[in-house]
Amino acid sequence: MTRATWATRLGFVLAAVGSAVGLGNIWRFPWLTATNGGSAFLLLYVVVILLVGVPGLLGEMVIGRRSRRNPVGAFDALGGRRWRPLGGLALVASVVVLSFYSVVGGWILRYTVASATGAYFDAPQAYFAAIDFGPAAAGFHALFLLATVAVVYAGVDRGIEVATTVMVPGIVLLFTGLAVWVATLPGSAGGYAFYLSLDVAYLRTNFFEVLVAAAGQALFTLSVGAGAMLTYASYLDEDRSLVADGALIAGLNTAIGVLAGLVIFPLLYSLDVPPGAGGPGALFVGLAGAFADLPFSRLVGVVFFGVVLLAALSSAISIFEVLVAYLVDEHAFERPRATAGVGGLFLLTGTAAALSPTLFTLLADTVANLALTAGLLGFLLFAGWVLGAAALDEFRTGAGAVARLTARPWYYTVAVVLPLFLAFTFVSGLGTVLGVPLSAPQAAGVATVGVAGAIALLWHRAEPAV
Ligand code: PFF
Repeated sequence: MTRATWATRLGFVLAAVGSAVGLGNIWRFPWLTATNGGSAFLLLYVVVILLVGVPGLLGEMVIGRRSRRNPVGAFDALGGRRWRPLGGLALVASVVVLSFYSVVGGWILRYTVASATGAYFDAPQAYFAAIDFGPAAAGFHALFLLATVAVVYAGVDRGIEVATTVMVPGIVLLFTGLAVWVATLPGSAGGYAFYLSLDVAYLRTNFFEVLVAAAGQALFTLSVGAGAMLTYASYLDEDRSLVADGALIAGLNTAIGVLAGLVIFPLLYSLDVPPGAGGPGALFVGLAGAFADLPFSRLVGVVFFGVVLLAALSSAISIFEVLVAYLVDEHAFERPRATAGVGGLFLLTGTAAALSPTLFTLLADTVANLALTAGLLGFLLFAGWVLGAAALDEFRTGAGAVARLTARPWYYTVAVVLPLFLAFTFVSGLGTVLGVPLSAPQAAGVATVGVAGAIALLWHRAEPAV
């Protein structure tokens, strides 16, 4: 059986942008921005995307294209059997992310339908509280999962590529339309001020907290750490520049994220809803509730939640594909059987998250961040110290002259700088979860010792790249 490939370069880029742009940009980003000082968060977020997100994304892509396998097969093929557990970590991270993600996808689906009748207009708070968890939430989660299954079932080029080629331009068009329209609403100006003017004082007093939150969000929004981009890159041919594609993916994702902010914050301000209110439910309670006061409220609701639904689906597909690729590559499953099997697994884990708010919050809030950070940390140590020169070689393959110049700086970033940074955010995040919050110097100390130990262990394995 020949392995699937993308039909066109644009098809791959749009699929990867579809993976990146999702609930992370629309649901998680405004919520984090609102609770981390608005523009202060935005600024650090953009910096972290450039310095951490893009090199990390390229690390995943290098491993995927070099091996042409799913994560487990990739580390095995490139480093030997003892590396298979690292791929296993990617599978676990994928399960963690999609289990809560498809519950939120189910909420979005429900709100798209409910907007048509205005069901939540009168009492938004009570409506959300009545539908967020429980058997109905599990049902909508299952419907969302079914849509994901249908696309993945149709295959890489005919399912994922075709679907995302329609979805991503659709998302951009609809959000641009909404952003222009929102600017005409009275009172929206306060939203731009909150979002775009820099609060230096806030940043100075809360730097590390904002940094850790921004780093987690940067990984989440670029879909790195769970092997989704690794898997998508494994369907690539040699003749293209990973650097150009990676930069384009990150650029489009950030642009669409900022665009989503330009819809959401002005809208909240024009409707007098404080952006920090409601936490994870902000989108559903604050924003959705406010739709009722707008002209053409039902149409606005259907369009808005319809775009969010497209964005959520094109991301869910990419996480789902990680596990399908694993079953197809490693266990010789036919795609239909693999899709059914993975669908069954997520039906169980997602239903559990839809029934238990405690489990949901644990997964969405902390475990997802930790799993993605640990995953990417492992991938990059592998790329730097096990692949070594081969990683540099893969980075340069298909790259133009300018991109080739970035190869060495990229290598040092991925082999040393990012592992230190990721270990730092992992250790501080873990400390908070375990109830032993560490100071920044303590976390940095633990991270440095851990990374230095790992590099010392791996030192002799690499084909020297330095
Ligand atoms: N990037 C997606 C979003 O921002 O919604 C979420 C995501 C997709 C995270 C795929 C991780 C992943 F592997």
